[in-house]
Amino acid sequence: MTTKKKPKVYITRKLPEPVETRMRELFDAELNLDDRPRTQPELVAAVRSADVLVPTVTDRIDAALIEQAGPQLKLIASFSNGVDNIDVEAAARKGITVTNTPNALTEDTADMTMALILAVPRRLAEGSRVLTDSHGEWAGWSPTWMLGRRIWGKRIGIIGMGRIGTAVARRAKAFGLSIHYHNRKRVNPATEEELNATYWDSLDQMLARVDIVSINCPSTPATFHLLSARRLELMQPSSYIVNTARGDVIDEDALIKSLRAGKIAGAGLDVFENEPSVNPKLLKLAEQGKVVLLPHMSSATLEGRIDMGDKVIINIRTFCDGHRPPDRVLPARV
Ligand code: DGY
Repeated sequence: MTTKKKPKVYITRKLPEPVETRMRELFDAELNLDDRPRTQPELVAAVRSADVLVPTVTDRIDAALIEQAGPQLKLIASFSNGVDNIDVEAAARKGITVTNTPNALTEDTADMTMALILAVPRRLAEGSRVLTDSHGEWAGWSPTWMLGRRIWGKRIGIIGMGRIGTAVARRAKAFGLSIHYHNRKRVNPATEEELNATYWDSLDQMLARVDIVSINCPSTPATFHLLSARRLELMQPSSYIVNTARGDVIDEDALIKSLRAGKIAGAGLDVFENEPSVNPKLLKLAEQGKVVLLPHMSSATLEGRIDMGDKVIINIRTFCDGHRPPDRVLPARV
């Protein structure tokens, strides 16, 4: 009886223990136990020797890297939902399949989006700092102190009504927000009815009419700086922006200018244009209580990461068994 050779799988970052254990059992797995981000030369060496590359959102898998891949590399099984860091078209040209992990982080990301929707208008981070910075020696309650803005009864405008956008809408509805959305296409009538959602074909018109904007679309060439300086000008001075998608969907410099000028009231950001570095002007605005900043942790739950790992494993196994993997990402143009 012949035993099938295990595929050589290169994993760029540390993954939860149960995922690494399963990968060791199933594959000839090269793990990253100390979680040091891999350098581009290390990635080049990996694509020249591995059958499968498992990158994460912190790896740049661009055309130059893919070009250097050896003929043995047939699959990039990304441990991520977003694939904006991977040149999917370059991979397709080289005959390499790309997969991702959709759905595994929908609910966790929607939870954190909702947390920011509450945190910014209700001044959660500021209030917490009052106690920690004063070591508990605060002046006490007063009727006019720490006043935020009410959530209930306001309008939310969701940009990108895919899985995560819809999950945000369900939560937002329960918090008394009326649901407005802009998407490439209208969602099905049953979902619109369930959410009592209003579709805006024109993003400009929606921006001018909502109190909270939630960004839930992927980063693509079409969504780069979708919230441009011009569009930010359309928003009301009392409105807020929450972004748990990708930093480059907003023109960050323009956002900073709008916040400083009081043209919008605040922002909750989990993602940044030049991650992992964060613009010092945003840090300053956070000190002033105008923004709440998180370090790209919307999907960070143990359960979510294990689900993502399971999806990666299923994609690799299905592919290596000669079938179409369930979470194949198709290039926009081949
Ligand atoms: C993803 O997988 O795209 C997320 O941004 C990770 O948090």
